[in-house]
Parts: sequence; structure tokens; C-alpha cells
Amino acid sequence: MIGFEEKGGILHADDVPLTQIATEFGTPAYVYSAGAIRGQYEALALAMQKALPPERQPLLCYACKANSNIAVLSLLKGCGSGLEIVSEGELRRGLKAGFAPEKIVSTGVGKQAREIAACLEAGIHQFNVESLPELVHIQKIAAEMNKTAHVVFRLNPDVTGGGHHKISTGRKRDKFGLGRADVFKGFEMAAEMSHVQAHGLSIHIGSQVFTVDAFRQAFEKLPGMVGELRAAGHVISRLDIGGGFPIIYKDEKLLDLSAYAKWVGDIILPLETEIIMEPGRYLVGNAGVLLSETLYIKETNDRSFLVIDAAMNDLVRPTLYDAYHGIEPVENRDAPKKLYDVVGPICETGDTFSIDRTLPSMKPGALVVIRSAGAYGFCMASNYNTRPMPPEILIDGERVAVIRQRQSYDDLIGPEHIPEWLNR
Ligand code: LLP
Repeated sequence: MIGFEEKGGILHADDVPLTQIATEFGTPAYVYSAGAIRGQYEALALAMQKALPPERQPLLCYACKANSNIAVLSLLKGCGSGLEIVSEGELRRGLKAGFAPEKIVSTGVGKQAREIAACLEAGIHQFNVESLPELVHIQKIAAEMNKTAHVVFRLNPDVTGGGHHKISTGRKRDKFGLGRADVFKGFEMAAEMSHVQAHGLSIHIGSQVFTVDAFRQAFEKLPGMVGELRAAGHVISRLDIGGGFPIIYKDEKLLDLSAYAKWVGDIILPLETEIIMEPGRYLVGNAGVLLSETLYIKETNDRSFLVIDAAMNDLVRPTLYDAYHGIEPVENRDAPKKLYDVVGPICETGDTFSIDRTLPSMKPGALVVIRSAGAYGFCMASNYNTRPMPPEILIDGERVAVIRQRQSYDDLIGPEHIPEWLNR
């Protein structure tokens, strides 16, 4: 069995009952299915194999901000993936997991000097440049190191996409990318630079893009732009078409992967460039759950609160983006239904996973899972309210591994110290 399904009345992760995981490792805990991650990678790769000829297959660079545990990175590397990184920390994780630097692309609007230097030292495939001052900065550092920086320019296509305004990145008002005129300027500047080589363009319009036409609208901005840049004498040999492919959290009607692949085939392929993609959420989102235990059932005049031991510090998406996540009990899944507000222990009303959720009636001690927590779950967790970071557990069939142990209080509080001069 692959993924999270019920067997003998108990929800499993692959072949392992989640009851067993809770007993062995405690709660809250993130649990990932290796098979589910592999399956998503293969589905995306296959859709591309059907739409594009073998010699024009894209370089899939997993956007590891979605889930950067080095075991997950290693798993995806094993599938053949490259890596999209947005910080030196992510570069270090990628190198530690064994990614070839030639398969790593660096994105983000605020690349710092030491991050640029670390990427040049490693010899990454390219920087996706987001501003002209950044281009100048990259040239300066590359010259000092006597390395060549390979760059593409991120075009802001002025397209609205993304499941929430906080994760839409391709509108003119967003901080990302360059307008048309600045892309031209960037190519002209790069042509004069001694240690920068420009290769093409990138776009990324947002995350959880479920507006069916948004990708097509963004892709359609590319042929004209590529034609004009080539007419001006610039070499366009790479197009990075970003990430953003959505997953089902509830009952969303989503863009079909094959339709997306067909647009890549129809619009991007004829431009005769190397093709790069940066999928994040699609590869890992539905391959993880946050496993938690019911602490109390608190009944008030008009509400039933299911107080669980996971909180917004473990999974912030519901409170940050009003995101919907499925919630299910691990056992007693056929009990009579009841309405609950599912909340965590943190001292904020925002620490609410869902309001008026219909669930089989629950008892203290009952285990629940919060679904679709494999992407932007653990990696956005914090220590708010001095709660230790939960463990991450990887399941592969019957195999179980703790890929990150629960944070200890020593690790959490140990780095702090009281200055000697205080209270003197
Ligand atoms: N490439 C770039 C340049 C990005 O900024 C992102 C995501 C991706 C690729 C991957 O996008 P994906 O395929 O995962 O949609 N924390 C938010 C999502 C933020 C996404 C940021 N950038 C959430 O929990 O929904």
C-alpha cells in the first residue's frame, strides 16, 4: 500500500499503522510516505515524457522550500530530480543530500553575498536574477572569485495565479521578477560583464495555482519575448518555467497535469531551449500528514472544541493562509458524526485548524491526522510558545525511519544565555 489509507479500520502510512507510529515516536509528528513522493515525481516526469520528445525532457528542479529534510531530498535525487534553492541553507542541504551542482538553480529576490559566493563555489547551474542591482552584485562577486556566473532573468509576466494573495508572485505589483524593459536592460548589461553569462528567462507565477488558464497565459508571454531578445542579438538557450502546480486539499477541480504538459509542448518546446521546471508542493504535499493526539474535548454552550496536541507552530498554513486541510481520526472512523472546532494549545484564537468540521465523534487520547501536510508543513514550523519542533518520520512500505528527531528542550533553550551584567 502506498500513501495514507485505512486498513482493518486503522489509518496506515503505507503498510504501517499510524497507531504504532504514535506509540513509538509520540505526537505531534510529521509522517511521510516515500512511495507517495516517488509516485508524484513519476507522474510529473511521465506527463512530460508524453508531451515532449526524449531529447527535450525538462530538468525537474525540486523546490525544496516545500520540504527540505535531507532524507526527502535524497529520495528525490534518487528519482533523478535537480534542485531549486532559495538560500545558502538550502544549498548546503542539497549538497549534503548529494545533488550535482549542475542540477541546482538559485532563486529569490534577496540573494546575499555569501550565498552568491557559496553557489559560485559549488558551481550551480544558474542564478535566476530578480533585479538589476542583484545582477551587478553577482558580477562583482564572480569577478572577485574569478568564476563565471550563469544567469537567467526572471520575467514578471503580470499574470494573477496562486491559491492565496500571499502566494501569488507574478503580478506587476509583486516583488518578484523584472518587467519587460528591465529584462532587455539586464541582457545588455550582462553582455558587457566579464564574469556573467546570460542564458535565458525564468517565470514563476505563484503557488497552488488552480486558475486553470494562468499557466497558459504566463507561458504565452514567452515566445514574443524570446523572439525579440533573439532579434536583438541575445542568446536564449534556457527557459525555466517555475513551479506552482497545485494539489487537492479538499475537493478542488484542478488543472489536469497532461493539459499543463501539453501547453509546455505547444508553447515552450518550439522555442528550442533547455526547459527547467521547479515543482515543490506537487511532489510532496499529499505525501505527508501531521499526526496528533486529542487532549481534551471542551464543550461550551454552542461549540465543541477538539483540543489536539498539534498547534499552529507545527503547521501554520490554516492560520496564515486560511488553508483547508483534511482532518481524520486514525481509529473509530465510523463513529457517529459530530461538529468540532479543531484547535491547538497555543494562546491565540488563530491556533485553529478548522471551524465546524464534521468528524466521527472523538474521545480524549484519540489520534487524528491533518492531511496534505507534506509541503510547507514542517519547514514552516516554529518554536512559538516554546514548543519543540516535532519529529519527521519516513515510511517506505514496512520500513520506518526517524528522519529528524523531536527537538529536545536542551536544543531549544540551550543556545540562550543570561548576560552576566544583567540584574547586577
Ligand atoms: N519556484 C519558485 C521561484 C518559488 O518561489 C516557489 C514557491 C516554487 C518554485 C515552488 O512552488 P510550488 O510548486 O510549491 O507551488 N508557504 C506557501 C507556499 C509558498 C511558495 C513559495 N514559492 C504555502 O504553504 O502555501
